[in-house]
Amino acid sequence: MAEEAVLGYLQKHEQIVDSGAFAAEQGISHDEIVNAIKSLNGFGFVVAQDIKRERWQLTEEGKTYASAGSPEFQLFTAVPPEGISRVDLQKKLGDSVFKIGCQQAIKNKWVEMGKLQVSRKVENVDDSVKAFLAKINDGEALNQEDIDALKRRKLILLHTWKGYSVKKGPNYAPERRKPATDLTRENLQSGDWKNLEFKEYNLSTKGAPSEGGYLHPLLKVKSRIQMIFSLMGFEEMPTNNYVESSFWNFDALFQPQQHPARDSHDTFFLKEPSVTKILPEDYVEKVKQIHESGGHGSRGYGYDWKREEANKNLLRTHTTAVSSRMLYALAKKPFEPKKYYSIDRVFRNEAVDRTHLAEFHQIEGLICDRGLSLGDLQGVLHDFFSRLGMSKLRFKPAYNPYTEPSMEIFGYHEGFKKWVEVGNSGMFRPEMLLPMGLPEDVRVIAWGLSLERPTMILYGIDNIRDLFGHKVDLDLIKSNPICRIGL
Ligand code: PHE
Repeated sequence: MAEEAVLGYLQKHEQIVDSGAFAAEQGISHDEIVNAIKSLNGFGFVVAQDIKRERWQLTEEGKTYASAGSPEFQLFTAVPPEGISRVDLQKKLGDSVFKIGCQQAIKNKWVEMGKLQVSRKVENVDDSVKAFLAKINDGEALNQEDIDALKRRKLILLHTWKGYSVKKGPNYAPERRKPATDLTRENLQSGDWKNLEFKEYNLSTKGAPSEGGYLHPLLKVKSRIQMIFSLMGFEEMPTNNYVESSFWNFDALFQPQQHPARDSHDTFFLKEPSVTKILPEDYVEKVKQIHESGGHGSRGYGYDWKREEANKNLLRTHTTAVSSRMLYALAKKPFEPKKYYSIDRVFRNEAVDRTHLAEFHQIEGLICDRGLSLGDLQGVLHDFFSRLGMSKLRFKPAYNPYTEPSMEIFGYHEGFKKWVEVGNSGMFRPEMLLPMGLPEDVRVIAWGLSLERPTMILYGIDNIRDLFGHKVDLDLIKSNPICRIGL
């Protein structure tokens, strides 16, 4: 309605001189007219020019005096020719009118205030304040002195009024048609598409952000480490089986059946199916022998090896289970050196705290070749960890049932300015490799670490439950930065 009024008016007139006067003339609120002008201006239907006008307006107090008369006048009229007691006068007028009225009437020398009595000093007075307020209300001009007086008494306030003068714009049309955004079936059927004006495409608008999915920090770090391994010439091992038999997870690794890690307090055993049915029988026999009585220069453990124990299914506790399968498969063929790696999930029956979960991801690497030494292991670890950003390493003797020697790996963290444990490593024992059938001079160097550890360090997360599991904040997943290790 306001838009139509503006466009219609401009059809017959050169311009709208003043949006305020125009609004009053049209009987539309000025706000509505202003909104219409702004929108029409934005689309080039009109050209609007700002008008700013300063205007005095009555304050609330000013308004009451404009209708009831100034307090001094009210006070004067309330004083009869014979005078009146202060108390009665105050009662008649109320506290506020009495107080202000007294001040002003005394100043104007209209009344005289005795200790108890109030009496008139003149016979007639003019309520000029009321008259001035009325003039201001009508937008009439006053002289500066009178304005100052009213301003000091806070009866008027200066308001800046904003409006527009308006002329036709480059896209002027007597009516504004909303351009169509869609071509509908109805448009086609009725034929009105011929007269429709279509909204232009805005080719620079941004699309809605896609909610397609985000990479978890673990996946980002994982793919960088995969890249490091492939740059170093490693092949990925197939780790797509969380369920493993005790045989491949422990026995093949020369881990004795009484070893505490094989306890249900440390390992999740499966209820259904609780045992494996397929194991390579001839190899099982060799593993049994090496555990019980040794061979290849080893004395073995000297205990009764039980097949039932080896058959028990579990959630793999390390990806070294996969390494043992891979090495066994390798031993079946004419020997070829190999570099293998994997990064996948493992499970341990652990008490959950800020650095431990019952499942995590293990990074594992191994190299299998003739005549490898501990020096090769240290060299490869230096290469690998310096690609991860850790070029200072230290090694500490350790124990694993399947490696000898074994070393814990410590890296100097440049950010934390201290040594942190970064992994575990060793050379697989002959008791593991020889029963598989690998040639005697073949050595396997290997190491393992968690994916969570470097990820938490890289992303500054100090509680593992903020990284993985149901307590993770989805915003972290949506907004975490890219990972740049391994460049
Ligand atoms: N399996 C070991 C672990 O779970 C890691 C490791 C892999 C150690 C290979 C030595 C050699 O911690």
